[in-house]
Amino acid sequence: MIPKEKVQEVIDTARVEEVVGEFVHLKKRGVNQIGLCPFHNEKTPSFIVSPAKGIFKCFGCGEAGSSVDFIMKHEHYTFPQAVKWLAQKYHIEIQEEEQSPEQIEAENEREGLFNITNFAAKFFEKTLYETEKGKAIGLSYFNERGFSEQTIKKFQLGYSPETWDGLSKAAIEAGYTKEYLVKAGLAIQKDNGNVYDRFRNRVIFPIHNASGRVLGFGGRILITDKKQAKYVNSPETLIYNKSNVLFGLFTAKNAIIKQDNCLLVEGYTDVISLFQSGIENVVSSSGTSLTTGQIKLIKRYTQNITILYDGDAAGIKASFRGINMIVEEGLNVRVVLFPTGEDPDSFARSHNSEQLETFLKENAQDFIHFKADLLSKEAGDDPVKKAGVVREIIETIALVPEQLNRIYFIRETSELLNVKEEILTNEVIKVRRKQYYKESNKQEYKPEPSPPSSERQIIKTEEGNVHQEREVVRLLLNYGSMEFNPDDAKILEMLEEKQDAEEAISTVADFIIEELEEFDDEKIEFSDVLAQKIYNEFVSAYENETIPSEKFFVNYSEENVRKYSVDLLTQPYMLSPNWLEKHKISISEETNFEVIARACIEAVYSLKSRIIKNKLIKLQQKIQDENSEEGEKINIMLEYRNLLAIKNQIDLSLGRIVVE
Ligand code: CTP
Ligand code: MN
Repeated sequence: MIPKEKVQEVIDTARVEEVVGEFVHLKKRGVNQIGLCPFHNEKTPSFIVSPAKGIFKCFGCGEAGSSVDFIMKHEHYTFPQAVKWLAQKYHIEIQEEEQSPEQIEAENEREGLFNITNFAAKFFEKTLYETEKGKAIGLSYFNERGFSEQTIKKFQLGYSPETWDGLSKAAIEAGYTKEYLVKAGLAIQKDNGNVYDRFRNRVIFPIHNASGRVLGFGGRILITDKKQAKYVNSPETLIYNKSNVLFGLFTAKNAIIKQDNCLLVEGYTDVISLFQSGIENVVSSSGTSLTTGQIKLIKRYTQNITILYDGDAAGIKASFRGINMIVEEGLNVRVVLFPTGEDPDSFARSHNSEQLETFLKENAQDFIHFKADLLSKEAGDDPVKKAGVVREIIETIALVPEQLNRIYFIRETSELLNVKEEILTNEVIKVRRKQYYKESNKQEYKPEPSPPSSERQIIKTEEGNVHQEREVVRLLLNYGSMEFNPDDAKILEMLEEKQDAEEAISTVADFIIEELEEFDDEKIEFSDVLAQKIYNEFVSAYENETIPSEKFFVNYSEENVRKYSVDLLTQPYMLSPNWLEKHKISISEETNFEVIARACIEAVYSLKSRIIKNKLIKLQQKIQDENSEEGEKINIMLEYRNLLAIKNQIDLSLGRIVVE
């Protein structure tokens, strides 16, 4: 454990332009620096470093973050490793905190489990090579499957004896305890306290972590027996968390980096056969269906994944699910389906490496072509079904996190399926909006409650305020400490009220917080948790008469808050002029104070208006509720009228701001 204060010291000391500058040649461009992105291939620079904000962002591939994020991403480091790297660069001495007894015990337990799984792996290997049964049954099975001796060694394959306690007995003799055998999932305890081996008479596939330590095992049966499972696998243990492990990652790691692509297959044998055929950048999610944790694991090494699944119905279904999950993580995905009856393992055995490589190259499709081809076959000329094809593709595009990539995919779909870009864009926006409400709002996308008839035009639906909140937080993050001068005639006009000199509002953050905190007796509640977190930080800083810096959020301890902040800090004014020109996008730049002030007032008023609107909806529901008492109803109606008057006032001011 690195002490918190040390982590902070490192973060405060590290200068993003110096850190990135160690790996990327940067040139000055205005207040920013610009260079070729190290995370994707490009010829013209779209990678920008902002020394003032302490962040980098690539407008080509979307990578963004702080100095620590850069080192984590670039060097494939964990957070503590990255902090240590930076500490060394800046000659900051780090003495790791002493661990608590609980931490030491947990650490010891993990080490104990690693030791015993390592012992088991060696035992299974030894049994394969050195016992009669191992040689006659295990080795000959692997040979039949075409695995070479070198391959068997490389993957540390083994064999578990037929007896009930082959491994357990050997382990106990070597000094390991029953308790650890059970904790590691290698043995199962009976009611009488005795243990027996989980793996018996099976060939063994050890599962390694990225640095090559054995976490668990898969054991394959040697005969076809409908009554027994083909594989017995280690259960989840303290060291084996299946959703964060990929079979083959250890052997594939370097090839994945080199090829800048990771092949994803379904089984142990697929990984091994492809590897033997010279295709080494291959992993499998063996035993679980693909998880986000596994995709994140791949993301440490590459942005590109190619799914290689069987062409049967199950394979197609799995690939659809995989595509969406990968796309959602911001990675590029391609798909290869194998001909019916073939899987990567059988295909690799019946073709030479060259044929295999050509096959993969010629059949890898991006998700748009893949879905379009597959579904168009079913749809034929039926226009309704054809619309379904477009729909399927839109659903996936809507998951893509980077807007630029969405634009690119929309263009591709438009050309391929001959549908107007505008139509696709609109549909994608609709789907995204729905997803957004579902995720960050938690409260459901409610159907329209019917309001009292006279108010029908004003109030439509109860929606979250995520967009308004986002804008408020964006302004806080970007301009929080900027002076908000209430003496400025223009602003006074906008606010349409005379400010008392003593009550002078001094910064953007002050203005926003005072407006929001004081207009209502209740504490304001955001519908977006991330926006709420950032807002709360500003409020508590306000109470201490300080303003948190951009750096504070860019280095926030929670990754999702970090990401959200970086996103808000880089949109859209950090775009390089080149980029804007290339994409023919014009934005009104927030460079002068008046524009920013206007944006602040608009944002605050919009949010207030929305908050009141939601309250009004709740009141309406109470009014309509058959069970409410008459007397109470009258009070509610009065409250309703008051709020409505406030809302109308705000909306009026808002209209003036927006229209001008
Ligand atoms: N699997 C499992 N338990 C099963 C069946 C499958 O855990 N009862 C997992 C294994 O990780 C397996 C993967 O799912 O590797 C793919 O299954 P399958 O294609 O049936 O297995 P293969 O390993 O390809 O075995 P083989 O080629 O020998 O049939
Ligand atoms: Mn298989």
